[in-house]
Amino acid sequence: MSKKIIVTGGAGYIGSHTVVELMHAGYEPVIIDDFRNSKPWIIDRIGELTGKYPLGHSIDCADEKEVLSVFRNYTDIFGVIHFAAYKAVGESVQKPTMYYQNNIGSLCAILNAMKETKISNLVFSSSCTVYGEPSTPAVTENTPIQKANSPYGDTKIICERIIENVKISGQPIQAALLRYFNPIGAHPSGKLGELPNGIPNNLVPYITQTAAGIREQLVVNGNDYTTSDGTNIRDYIHVVDLAKAHVKALEWLQNQNKPVCEPFNLGTGKGTSVLEIIHSFEEVNQVKVNYKIGPRREGDVEQIFANPTKAEKMLNWKCDYSVADALKHSWNWEKTL
Ligand code: WQD
Repeated sequence: MSKKIIVTGGAGYIGSHTVVELMHAGYEPVIIDDFRNSKPWIIDRIGELTGKYPLGHSIDCADEKEVLSVFRNYTDIFGVIHFAAYKAVGESVQKPTMYYQNNIGSLCAILNAMKETKISNLVFSSSCTVYGEPSTPAVTENTPIQKANSPYGDTKIICERIIENVKISGQPIQAALLRYFNPIGAHPSGKLGELPNGIPNNLVPYITQTAAGIREQLVVNGNDYTTSDGTNIRDYIHVVDLAKAHVKALEWLQNQNKPVCEPFNLGTGKGTSVLEIIHSFEEVNQVKVNYKIGPRREGDVEQIFANPTKAEKMLNWKCDYSVADALKHSWNWEKTL
């Protein structure tokens, strides 16, 4: 069976960690990435970590002609992992058409190229944002999908529906929709990690940059929520655990002999508050984080974390790393930058 896997956005944060795990598992990734949200030297780091440089094409995933020409370069592609998308919630509110055009346009280009080249296996990078503000914080895949809080979240809901409708259309497709909770951390080697563009939107990179003196002070977005310490609760999952789930999803797809479009929650199953993250970071790294409590952030969900039972059972996957491990690795990475 061929082991080539097209990985769009393969130089990105989750993409690069997944490429490493794919290579460790004996796959041959073919990266499609135009480095708009990543750096070319990440490919060198992958080479250092695995002893082999992955194949790569620097093209726009939303350019259907370009995508098809890359797919036609190879006759032995087993499947596609589609990461390439814009993912900053706040930015999506300011620039909605850029998000819809890119995130939906690139998925449609990929699906059409898959049809043309008879590739049926797809792992799609989705998000827990599809659940909105859940009625119960421990969400399963049957928790109702709610109206998105942002254009970013809306593109994920729409993309999942597009893939389901492609299956209904009769195009042969086996798809795993991986709903990430909050990816954090970095590769234990210190060679890969998150590279936020400009001011980080997300909590952990903002913490590491504050601890490194790049940012003056972290503002905690509200402490008047009905949680144990008043701050928001999320399910923070180590990026390497998340990467390994993609390899498991491909293995699961190999055993599917009929069209499928199956969602999986990828989280630890444990909720952690903002203040708990800050204090854990300080303790595990023996550094102080300068922070203050500020107002709530528009669109924030009060609390959400995964019920990961379905992924654990069906994908035979489980998280190995703790939040503390992830916070240690994220600090190690920050210190290399
Ligand atoms: C977490 C908590 C903030 C920054 C992200 C991604 C989304 C999806 C889910 C993958 C919130 C608080 C943050 C700061 C703070 N992942 N915070 N001060 O909003 O849960 O969404 O994970 O698709 O794409 O955006 O993550 O890290 O932005 O926020 O207090 O400077 O940290 O208010 O409560 P979020 P986040």
